[in-house]
Amino acid sequence: MSRYVVAVLPGDGIGPEVTAEAVRVLQAAAELHGFTVETAEHLIGAAAVAEMGDSFPAATATAVADADAVLLGAVGHPSLAAAEGRRRPEAGLLALRQLLGAYANLRPVTVHPALRHASPLRPERLDGVDLLIVRELLGGLYYGEPRGLDGESAVNTMRYSGAEVERVTRVAFQAARGRRRAVTSVDKANVLEVSQLWRETVTRVAADYPDVRLEHLYVDYAAMRLVANPAAIDVLLTENLFGDILSDEGAVLSGSLGLLPSASVGDGPGLFEPVHGSAPDIAGQGVANPLGAISSVAMLLRYGLKQMEAADVVDRAVASVLAAGVRTPDIARPGERTVGTREVGARVAALVLEGVGV
Ligand code: NAD
Ligand code: IPM
Ligand code: MN
Repeated sequence: MSRYVVAVLPGDGIGPEVTAEAVRVLQAAAELHGFTVETAEHLIGAAAVAEMGDSFPAATATAVADADAVLLGAVGHPSLAAAEGRRRPEAGLLALRQLLGAYANLRPVTVHPALRHASPLRPERLDGVDLLIVRELLGGLYYGEPRGLDGESAVNTMRYSGAEVERVTRVAFQAARGRRRAVTSVDKANVLEVSQLWRETVTRVAADYPDVRLEHLYVDYAAMRLVANPAAIDVLLTENLFGDILSDEGAVLSGSLGLLPSASVGDGPGLFEPVHGSAPDIAGQGVANPLGAISSVAMLLRYGLKQMEAADVVDRAVASVLAAGVRTPDIARPGERTVGTREVGARVAALVLEGVGV
């Protein structure tokens, strides 16, 4: 029987709430498909600062490096918003991504038919929306040196090497081959030299994928197209900060930030986390939507453990609870009955155990 080790990093705010439900669904999928997943929790973010004074302690680093996959909730706490160095919760997440060599962040955006009302866009704009944001995750302004703030002025550096652009571009084109064979590369080549390198590199690599269509958009117009004509986008490839911003905009299509999952892949074990943050405004209330975290488990099964059937079952169970009208407040219509985080997790897990749809 296959046996896997998954490092679980609940983190802060709603992170532990949604992660508990994601683990419950992961275990249900393992039980249905006859494999074993050993999960162990480790500290990251503000929770790690509180206990160890470091948002990414050495023990967590060791555990994730040895795991088959990593499942993360969210990091961030208002009390540490201005903390410095490794006491900043977000620094722990950046260190984790770097340690794992997770350079390609895959953020799928789909629209469930039962949730068309949850988006502020007109329903006809949502027809046929099925896109994948491929966000470069280890370069650009997030990691570039020099960086710093000296009171009078501050600096950050947007830096990419051609090799860094090339490797994430290949991930995007490979993904497009399993989809509608179109890549939209997003940059700001009319202003930034980094974007000129980005565009040249993407164009050169695209020659290796003659079966995939390539278009280039400037990021300002891409932000508009993402809500004006989202169905026309298949794979959207972009650098780190642009991808961060555009993926939260993409959440407007699906209806809630709480629905979006992600997978970060590269040199080491994959990292799987919902797109949303620690949501301090609703933390501790038991009302967070766990479906982004649960869909991240489907991605963990698919890309991390290569348990394709188990991944499909989790995706079907998520679709099925949405079709059945199970709603946390973020996706409910006014006056509609809502349920809490744990009930959603329990409903999905129960359907997974039944092998819904098989
Ligand atoms: P956020 O994603 O935490 O929240 C934005 C809004 O979406 C809030 O109104 C929140 O209640 C809502 N929301 C988010 N997830 C939800 C869910 N699962 N169910 C229902 N509603 C949900 O973003 P923010 O408020 O800008 O940031 C809060 C903190 O989270 C900050 O410290 C930030 O740095 C951090 N953050 C962490 C991650 C991560 O760990 N990957 C991602 C984004 C933000
Ligand atoms: C995300 C988050 C992170 C990012 C922060 C918390 C460092 O916003 O995962 O989208 O900017 O990558
Ligand atoms: Mn973000």
